[in-house]
Amino acid sequence: MAYTIGIVGATGAVGQELITLLESRSFPVKELRLLASARSAGKTMAFKGKEISIQETRPEAFDGLDIVFFSAGASISRDLAPEAVRRGCVVIDNSSAFRTDANVPLVVPEVNAHVLREHKGLIANPNCSTAIALMGLNPLHKAFGLKRFFAATYQAVSGSGVKGMVELEKQIRAWVNGETATPEVYAHPIAFNLFPHVDVFLEDGYTKEEHKMANESRKIMGLGNLAISTTCVRVPVMRAHSIAINAEFERPVDLAKARKAIEDADGVDLVDDPASNRYPTPQACTGVNNCAVGRLRVDSALENGLSFFVAGDQILKGAALNAIQIAEALPR
Ligand code: A2P
Repeated sequence: MAYTIGIVGATGAVGQELITLLESRSFPVKELRLLASARSAGKTMAFKGKEISIQETRPEAFDGLDIVFFSAGASISRDLAPEAVRRGCVVIDNSSAFRTDANVPLVVPEVNAHVLREHKGLIANPNCSTAIALMGLNPLHKAFGLKRFFAATYQAVSGSGVKGMVELEKQIRAWVNGETATPEVYAHPIAFNLFPHVDVFLEDGYTKEEHKMANESRKIMGLGNLAISTTCVRVPVMRAHSIAINAEFERPVDLAKARKAIEDADGVDLVDDPASNRYPTPQACTGVNNCAVGRLRVDSALENGLSFFVAGDQILKGAALNAIQIAEALPR
């Protein structure tokens, strides 16, 4: 069976990657409809050697589509995803609009593909740092029973879309030319800098991104009471996120068993040979489907604790790849 597919936000960083993945993974596509803002209407993008004309995202554009990927931000998803569902589409939404809605499955297929059986037309794709962190955390949870974790993220500018990547490049070019570029996307220069500020600050002092990591991890892992504290940091990396995690488990940890759990897990590679300078780096993960886990060690401050470092491509496992894997795992 082949599907009629729509992509809302086709011109964006994630949208473009979705098009590439549909082609490279030979997803059975009968028709591909590319949707974006009115600004892009009439421009074309290539798919399987053919140019497809971009259409403005209007409700009628969803008619006749089987699956629609939304990747144009939360407000567009909030406005139009329910409309696409009403018109008979299955929506896989990359935004944060519906992720904590009890009626909407939030899915990392390697962790909780089984919840797809209960979908009602709308499925949420998780926050990028959450998806990548869980690729390391979940195999260890299965081995030892996760009790709580602390994390600090190192998040690439691709998480802010094309404009984040353009901003980093512009500032580096300006620096090379002895000029300064005024920050436009972020509150501070991102080139040669970093800041503990991803998304908006909330009343409790955490950011919305930090809340997303906590709430979404609990929902995806089915651990409603899991204690989580994270600090999300934007760094001058183009497109892969990294996360340093300290996790505490119910049962005593064993390093050999932990390494085996990562090695045996789907979608993740153990990259852990510090003596040869082998550990996960965002550059090595760029353009790679699997996430990488390394620096695995017994945590010196937690009881039954493990420390480790995960990295993964933000646009792939953090967004487009996970969304396509959801489509591939849909009950037929
Ligand atoms: P467009 O290129 O026409 O502005 P990114 O965050 O990676 O830059 O991507 C944002 C995506 O969301 C782009 O494809 C962009 O299309 C799309 N987009 C922005 N505003 C709208 C809108 N009002 N309706 C539909 N798509 C939109």
